Amino acid sequence: MKYQEYPLERTFLAIKPDGVQRKLVGEIIRRFETKGFTLVGLKILNVSRELAEQHYDVHKERPFFAGLVEFITSGPVVAMVWEGEGVVSSARKIIGATNPLAAEPGTIRGDFGINIGRNLIHGSDAIETAQREIALWFKEEEIANWEPTLMAWTR
Ligand code: TYD
Repeated sequence: MKYQEYPLERTFLAIKPDGVQRKLVGEIIRRFETKGFTLVGLKILNVSRELAEQHYDVHKERPFFAGLVEFITSGPVVAMVWEGEGVVSSARKIIGATNPLAAEPGTIRGDFGINIGRNLIHGSDAIETAQREIALWFKEEEIANWEPTLMAWTR
């Protein structure tokens, strides 16, 4: 039986500067790994103003846009691509509501988030958005296509 029986689905997640500075990178990655999703892209980078503005382009007319760009470019971000069945919507559930004060306990934002301007992590909101964001943040060769070959070890 082939391991991958679901249509390939990927999402883009980014741990924002507050998550990196609060040393929550490992905790956050753990939640997606233990859920069973597959990490296929991972890097830490200082985000340019240009990339930040392109990433949040849909919000460019909103009053919080300038502050958001300022925040995202203020320190390193951990950019990731995760793969798995239903990963886009499942990751959004694991992340929790935009405002951490309204996010359910058990979600990343509900457990660790301070306020809407410091909500730790970004996750693509739809499959098409994920495709756009992955192409914006990652080069083709920075993404690893892999599936488990060592399952026998866990039997
Ligand atoms: P949005 O795409 O609405 O939320 P999400 O990150 O949950 O997909 O907004 C993007 C980011 O903009 C959000 O994570 C935090 C910031 N933001 C504010 O600072 N103030 C606001 O009122 C909103 C709606 C968002």
